Amino acid sequence: MAKTTAKSTPSQPAGKVPAGFTPRDKLRANARRKIEDGAVTETYSGDRKTLIKLLNDALATEYVCVLRYYRHYFMASGMLADAVKGEFLEHAKQEQAHAHRIAERIVQLGGEPDLDPDTLTARAHAEYKEGKDLRDMVKENLIAERIAIDSYRELILWIGDKDSTTRRMLEDILAQEEEHADEFADLLQGWIGD
Ligand SMILES: [Fe+2]
Ligand SMILES: [Fe+2]
Repeated sequence: MAKTTAKSTPSQPAGKVPAGFTPRDKLRANARRKIEDGAVTETYSGDRKTLIKLLNDALATEYVCVLRYYRHYFMASGMLADAVKGEFLEHAKQEQAHAHRIAERIVQLGGEPDLDPDTLTARAHAEYKEGKDLRDMVKENLIAERIAIDSYRELILWIGDKDSTTRRMLEDILAQEEEHADEFADLLQGWIGD
């Protein structure tokens, strides 16, 4: 990091820049290098290749969850089906929105979203369980959400302070997975039959 100077130049107004800050001239020159990298600048300190791979695993997980929720939405039957179907449909849409955000971030980081259906279930953390009845579907969804929660928490810890944008996105998603799990745990607790 260049030392700061009180010397005034046309692009660096008078006054000291605190230690650790890049002088304006250098900031401008850095931004002009490798502009094809877009949002990823030279100061990005994360392990991009590994992060893109891990985000692709999360993307696969989200898609498997979308498919499982839609399957459950269409197949739900029994006394409580009407109430629970609404939850399945809402979650399917929310998991789709998570997938969308993750795919966009992968592209921003210079990667490509892997949506190959042939390898989706092998790459996902969560499983595609059809469930034998409504209660079993709810249970399987709770388990899948708990898997997602643990895998997002690990990923967030691994990122640490290296990439605050990805971290913030994952923290948002994690909070919603926790809501999903909580809703299903409540449903299972109050279950009276189907
Ligand atoms: Fe999700
Ligand atoms: Fe979820």
